[in-house]
Amino acid sequence: MLRRHNMGPFWFAIFFQLIYVEVRSYETKTVKLNPHPTPDQLAWLEQSDIGFLIHYNMATFIPVEYDGCNRVPSLVPDIDLFYPDTVDTDNWAKTFMDVGAKYAILVAKHNCGFTTWPTQVTFQLTTNETILYNYSILYSPTSDTDLVSRFMDSCQQAGIKTGLYYSIIWNNWLNVQDARVQPGPLAPGQIPITQATYESIVLQQLEEIWSNYGPLLEIWFDGGYPQSLKSGILALLKKYQATASVFNGFGLTNNSIRNTGNEFGYTHEDTWLTVNDHAQEDANGDHFSPPECPTTLQVSDRWFYGGADFPIRPLNELIDSYHTTVGRSCKLVLDLAVSRTGLVDPKHASRYKEFGDFIRSCYGKPLSGQFNCSSTSCILQFPSTQLADRVVIREDLRSVPGASIRQWSLDGYMMWGDCLGCWIPIPSGTGQSIGNKRIVLFGEAVFVQGIRLNIYNTTGGPQVLAQFDAYLCQ
Ligand SMILES: *[C@@H]1O[C@H](CO)[C@@H](O)[C@H](O)[C@H]1NC(C)=O
Ligand SMILES: *[C@@H]1O[C@H](CO)[C@@H](O)[C@H](O)[C@H]1NC(C)=O
Ligand SMILES: *[C@@H]1O[C@H](CO)[C@@H](O)[C@H](O)[C@H]1NC(C)=O
Ligand SMILES: *[C@@H]1O[C@H](CO)[C@@H](O)[C@H](O)[C@H]1NC(C)=O
Ligand SMILES: *[C@@H]1O[C@H](CO)[C@@H](O)[C@H](O)[C@H]1NC(C)=O
Repeated sequence: MLRRHNMGPFWFAIFFQLIYVEVRSYETKTVKLNPHPTPDQLAWLEQSDIGFLIHYNMATFIPVEYDGCNRVPSLVPDIDLFYPDTVDTDNWAKTFMDVGAKYAILVAKHNCGFTTWPTQVTFQLTTNETILYNYSILYSPTSDTDLVSRFMDSCQQAGIKTGLYYSIIWNNWLNVQDARVQPGPLAPGQIPITQATYESIVLQQLEEIWSNYGPLLEIWFDGGYPQSLKSGILALLKKYQATASVFNGFGLTNNSIRNTGNEFGYTHEDTWLTVNDHAQEDANGDHFSPPECPTTLQVSDRWFYGGADFPIRPLNELIDSYHTTVGRSCKLVLDLAVSRTGLVDPKHASRYKEFGDFIRSCYGKPLSGQFNCSSTSCILQFPSTQLADRVVIREDLRSVPGASIRQWSLDGYMMWGDCLGCWIPIPSGTGQSIGNKRIVLFGEAVFVQGIRLNIYNTTGGPQVLAQFDAYLCQ
């Protein structure tokens, strides 16, 4: 780490003389324009860098050796297991706020088939008997009748935008795996239906949750949806949730969001906001589809509560995840694995609070400075020499065509050592994408009077940055 000392007016004057001299010249190459985000995608992007995905459902109550009902087709947990003591959705919202998240997505139905809203859907068995979808909270022993509604109320009060998750392609109760009713004998507790009945149930339940709880910021299709349901889902989306951004929604809506990275909170450095016709990330893709990076607090990619002794990830790992997701233009979606009681485990709540405290203390207040851009560079200048160990750069996605910068590097304006008053490359400061947000960690603090972002290739200009700030967090 470099020592802080006062540069004095002499160096300051030299700085101001040199800062607008283009030391190198760059050829700015213009390639194809990127697609613009839709207004709804912009609203989603501007929501916050972090969201929550709440796992509280039947699978919370089954033995810890199961990872939910995932890939155990014969597992239909007894409905009497869903018996929480004290569900408190305000307690959940407190954790959203502690981290600084501004949106939260509730798992309304997971792979066991149980719903936490009181679905009224009826359907025919293969025996022709008509029954109510009674694998729901309404028929469980708990006195709560609609957790989705309670969740919505708590979020509204806390100023948190909401989303809902409904797994389409798995339903153990109805003997459905990979979106198909399975052949062969039924396991205990399973209900015999046809494929057509299954598809009709999915559409009716989506209609219930999309029409009863107001406009959603985000809709989650985990594992996607079958082609046979595409037109039905499309019609419902248009009718009830046309403004929602849809995770795995490519082809259903222009407000699609894409999954990227791994479930440990990591995406590659140069993550782009666009995809090609096959929904794959592509810097030259024709479709704007920004990424989301879901991850867990519990270790081992565990999403449902694993018990008080189940280990959770250390703070430094969450901080690393923040930099390898949010710092790479990907929204970080954190699991909230609510415990069986219906409250957030205090250990989880305090780890998340520590994480929020880190974000606030590190990124709450940038070093004072002002930036100014030409077509080939942006210069952030400080009123005096500063120690800085990172920058945050954001393209203004309202003005530039869906993220425009294709290659860049950073220089620091040094006033010490061998170089009194010249631009020196910052070693970790090179990359291709900027997009919605790029956080560049320098590795160590540098003592600089300004930082320059050199922009080599773009997809059209002029360059507009929404943010270019430096921080010192050590
Ligand atoms: C169910 O109804 C259909 C159409 O009415 C009939 O063809 C079929 O035999 C019935 N199945 C049973 C098991 O009663
Ligand atoms: C749901 O309905 C089926 C068919 O009528 C019945 O066998 C089952 O016991 C019901 N379950 C509950 C929890 O009421
Ligand atoms: C998506 O945008 C295109 C081009 O503006 C438009 O033709 C199409 O109808 C939109 N699709 C949906 C599902 O809204
Ligand atoms: C940015 O540069 C322009 C022209 O180069 C100049 O007029 C303006 O004052 C500069 N703004 C700042 C904040 O330095
Ligand atoms: C940027 O331009 C350089 C020089 O033409 C080229 O080598 C490089 O591949 C380009 N990078 C991107 C990301 O387009």
